[in-house]
Amino acid sequence: MGKLKALDEKLNLTNKRIILRVDLNVPMQEGKITDKSRINKVIPTIKELTNKKAKIILISHLGRPGGKIDERLSLRPITSILENLLNSKVHFSIENCGSTVIEKSKKIKSGEILLLENIRFNKEEEANEENFAKELSKVGDIYVNEAFSCSHRAHASVCEITKHIDSYAGKLLSEEVNMINMLTNKAKKPVSCIIGGSKISTKIGVLTNLIKKMQTIVIVGAMANNFIKYKGHNIGKSLFEKDQENLLKNIIKKCETNNCKLIIPEDVIVAKSYESESKLKSLNKIDDTDLILDIGKDTVRKIYNIINESKTILWNGPAGYFELEKFSIGSNKIAKKITENTKNKSLISIAGGGDTVAAINKFGCSNGFTYISTAGGAFLELLEGKILPGIKVLETNE
Ligand code: 3PG
Ligand code: MG
Repeated sequence: MGKLKALDEKLNLTNKRIILRVDLNVPMQEGKITDKSRINKVIPTIKELTNKKAKIILISHLGRPGGKIDERLSLRPITSILENLLNSKVHFSIENCGSTVIEKSKKIKSGEILLLENIRFNKEEEANEENFAKELSKVGDIYVNEAFSCSHRAHASVCEITKHIDSYAGKLLSEEVNMINMLTNKAKKPVSCIIGGSKISTKIGVLTNLIKKMQTIVIVGAMANNFIKYKGHNIGKSLFEKDQENLLKNIIKKCETNNCKLIIPEDVIVAKSYESESKLKSLNKIDDTDLILDIGKDTVRKIYNIINESKTILWNGPAGYFELEKFSIGSNKIAKKITENTKNKSLISIAGGGDTVAAINKFGCSNGFTYISTAGGAFLELLEGKILPGIKVLETNE
């Protein structure tokens, strides 16, 4: 991978219009934002640029409106949130390109912000359309991508736009890319990872790549149920993915050839339903009516040992149904142990993925990791070793 083009720190940005591609794709429930992490994350970058007296034009998407206007996915409500966090004037534009918005971008005062409406209201965005990107580029003088979490998308405001305007990688984006690359290429050994989530098939690319780079892989979450079943245990009514035997066999074999230890749960927390009482069980005691919803204490102890042995650790995917307190113990203990070792034993710890970040926030460990990525798909694709289109266009040969 080439070096990413960075904005020269000494460049005079006074009155320069900077198009900043950010990811304000925040989770929402019934019109309310349930987690502001992605907004908070980009605030320092915006402040740094406003302090340099630039004019900031923010571009983002929200949800998947599919190229049509959908008022429920308007970015307008974010205007006041940004204003409060930034202490600067934030203007809003329903247009993304054209003379009106170009005019507005020139008219705002230096140090002010112009937030453009959800870019995905235009079908040309996801089509990575050339003319649209060209028009979009006229809203600014310089383009900066600070949205690592969108960089796996070959969309107009991420890719094509860079061909029509002086374009750079933002600091956060570079930091995130460097962290993930360090993890897979230059990490201090032993390197371990804890991978969870519900579907093994969505993590196969990541696992295949990580097996070659890691000394230990721990599988938790519903994904582990597949392995437990494969080993011949009853998993009762637990979530699992059908017809994955070949895939599992392959993973186990690859771990052997690459000398990578594969750890699966030894004991689990089960319940008859989400509402009913939870119970600790060893794998051979699970019955037909049990639902596996967390890892048990022996498994937690084993994971503690692995965290203690590791110099670098990656965590993606909670260990159980952490949304409910009684099934959150496994994930909570992992988060706390990683936090403790990061502080006291200089463990390098990286976590990523929507659910994992939500769990870490819930347990109050958001300051306990070396790096937390708010990206989902982009985080996994980079871990898979894929080339991300939005990153590729920001590379330099110098
Ligand atoms: C994300 O939430 O992963 C990014 O904002 C990208 O969104 P998308 O998956 O809808 O492209
Ligand atoms: Mg996504």
